[in-house]
Amino acid sequence: MNQNPLITLNQFIADEQSKFPKVNGNLSSIFRNLQLAAKMINRDVRKAGLVDILGNFGETNVQGEEQKKLDVISNEIFMRLMDLSGNCVCVVSEEDEDIHWCPGGENAKYILAIDPLDGSSNIDVNASIGSIFSIYKRLSPDKPVTKEDILQAGIHQVAAGYIIYGTATMFVYTTGNGVFGFTLDDSIQEFCLSHPNIMIPEMGSIFSVNEGNLKEFPAGVQAYVDYCKGNDKAEKRPYSARYIGSLIADFHRNLLKGGIYMYPPTEKAPNGKLRLLYECNPMSFLVEQAGGKSHTGKHRVMEVTPEQFHQRVPIFIGSSRMVDQVLDMMNKDA
Ligand code: AHG
Ligand code: MN
Ligand code: MN
Repeated sequence: MNQNPLITLNQFIADEQSKFPKVNGNLSSIFRNLQLAAKMINRDVRKAGLVDILGNFGETNVQGEEQKKLDVISNEIFMRLMDLSGNCVCVVSEEDEDIHWCPGGENAKYILAIDPLDGSSNIDVNASIGSIFSIYKRLSPDKPVTKEDILQAGIHQVAAGYIIYGTATMFVYTTGNGVFGFTLDDSIQEFCLSHPNIMIPEMGSIFSVNEGNLKEFPAGVQAYVDYCKGNDKAEKRPYSARYIGSLIADFHRNLLKGGIYMYPPTEKAPNGKLRLLYECNPMSFLVEQAGGKSHTGKHRVMEVTPEQFHQRVPIFIGSSRMVDQVLDMMNKDA
C-alpha cells in the first residue's frame, strides 16, 4: 500500500496560509471555489462525448472566434462560483467583452482573469484541454475598481494556475512560492498533491510551435526552428516536435519534461495569437516559479503593462536555456 501522505488541495492551502501571510483567508475561499468550478467543468468535459454539448454554440467571441458550447458553459460556471465566493470584485474573461461584476463584491480585494476553456478546438477530437486563471489584488481597496486595477502587469499577479482535463485532471498553481500540482482522485472528488514543487528542466529536447506558419515567422525564429531540427548528438538534436494546439497541454508536457513553446509574431498576426491577461501572464508566472523563462522576444512577458483586456503578445516560454537560445537568434537577426 502506498504510504505517501494524502494531502488534498484544501489542506495544502490551509497549511500554506499559516506559513505565508500573502496567502490569506480571502484568497483561500477563491481557491475553494476555483476547485469547485474545476470539478464542475471536468464533469461536463467528461460527458461531452455522451450528450449533445459538442459543436458550435452559434456565437462568436469578442475576437471573432467561434465559441464552442463548452466554452460558454465553462465561462458561466466560473462566473457563478466567483459570485458565490464573496471575495472577488470582478472577473474578466477571454469569452466576454465586458467586465463581469460579482454581485455584493464591491469591497472584495481580488480580481480574476480567466480563459475558461483553452484549446477548445480539441474538444471534438478528444484531446486535452484546460482552464487558466490569474488573480490580482485591486490597487486601492477604498476606491472603486477602474480599468487600471485590471490592467496590471503580470509581475503583480498574486496567484495563477490551470486545470488540465487530460488523461487525468490536474490542478496546477502558484502563489509565488513554487509550483504545485494536484491530481483529481475521481473516487473521492478531491485534488490530491501529486507533483510537489515542480521545476522545469533548464534544458529540454522538445519544441512546440505551429510550424505551418513557419514562413511567416521572423528570420531569427525560422533559424531557431531549423536549429532544433539540425543534427548534433552532443546537444541531443534534432529535438522532438510536439504540438497539440492546446496551450495547456503543450505547456504542461514541456513543464514536466523540459521544452519550449512558441507563438511567434507572424505577418498576419504581429502580436501572435495568445492573450496577455488570460494565457501568457498566468503561464509566465508558473514557468518562472518553476525556474523557466517567458519572453515576448522584446520584453519579459510579466513586465508588459497591458493596455487592453484582450491584448495579445508573442510568446517564447519554457526551459530557460532554450528560451535564451531563441532570443539570441532573434537578436542576431535584429
Ligand atoms: P482557445 O481555445 O482558448 O481559443 O485557445 C487556443 C490557443 C491555444 O490553446 C493554442 O496553443 C493555440 O490557440 C493554437 O493556435 P494555432 O491553431 O494557431 O496553432
Ligand atoms: Mn486559450
Ligand atoms: Mn478559450
